[in-house]
Amino acid sequence: MALEIEEKPAARVPLGAAIRKDNWWLKPLLTVIGLGIFAVYATLRAFENNYYAVPWGAAGEGHGHTYLSPFYSPLLPFRYSIAGWAISPALYILVFPLLFRMTCYYYRQAYYRAFFWDPPACAIPEPSARKHYHGERAFPLILQNMHRYALYAALVFLVMLWWDVIQAFNFNGRFGMGLGSLLMLGNIVLLTGYTCGCHSLRHLVGGRMDCFTCPMNANAEHAEVRTGYRAWRFVSRLNLNHMQWAWSSLGSVILTDLYIRSVASGAIQDLRFF
Ligand code: FES
Repeated sequence: MALEIEEKPAARVPLGAAIRKDNWWLKPLLTVIGLGIFAVYATLRAFENNYYAVPWGAAGEGHGHTYLSPFYSPLLPFRYSIAGWAISPALYILVFPLLFRMTCYYYRQAYYRAFFWDPPACAIPEPSARKHYHGERAFPLILQNMHRYALYAALVFLVMLWWDVIQAFNFNGRFGMGLGSLLMLGNIVLLTGYTCGCHSLRHLVGGRMDCFTCPMNANAEHAEVRTGYRAWRFVSRLNLNHMQWAWSSLGSVILTDLYIRSVASGAIQDLRFF
C-alpha cells in the first residue's frame, strides 16, 4: 500500500515582521558598549596630552624613551597652541587610525546596525522605511570609499609602531624586557593581523587578477603570479577572522596605553623581567 504523506503549507510570515526569536539584539548592544568605551577613553586620553612616554631609566637617565603610547606615536617634533592651550599631538595622529577604523568594511556593518538600526540585524525590519536610500553611492556615505586611502596611511603607521616596539626592548642602550615591552609587542601583532586582513588590502594584492589560474594570465610572469597568489592567500586567511582581529586590536590599544599611562604617571612601577 502506498504511503501518503500530507504536506503542510509553510507558516506564513507577515511582510515586515521579525522572524528571529534568538537574542539578535545582543551583537548591536555589545557594539554600542565596545565602541562607546573606546570613544570615551580615546577622547579623554587625546585631550590629556600627558603621560604618554616612559623614559629609559627610572630616574629618566638618557634622553630617549622605552615605552610610547600608541595614541601619541610617532612623537611629533612640533607643537602648536591656541590662546595658550597646547594642542595635543594625539589629535593630529588619531585622525588616521580613526579614519581607517570608521571606514572599515566590518565596522561599517557593525555600527550601521548598532547605531542606525539599518537594519539592526538580519531578518529584523528597520524602524521606518527610507524614502531616499542610495546606499554608499551618494554623499555622505560615498566617502566610505576613502577606506583604500586610509589603508595606505595605516600601513605607514604600522611600520612606525613596529619601530616603537623595538624601542620597548631598549633600556638606555641595553636589551631589556618589561611588562610594557610585552604589551606593546602583543598590541602590534594584533594591529598587524587586523590591518593585513583588510578587504582593501586583499583587493590590492590579488585584485589585479580576477583569476590566478585563467589562461589570460598564462603569459604573465610566473613568479609574479605566484607571489601575488601567496600574498592574496595570506591576506584572505587573516580576513576570515577580521571581526576578531578588529575587536582584539581595539582592546589591546586601550590596555597598552593604560599601562604606559600608569607607569608614566607614577601610579605603578614597570614590572621589569631583566
Ligand atoms: Fe576592515 Fe579594511 S576592511 S580594515
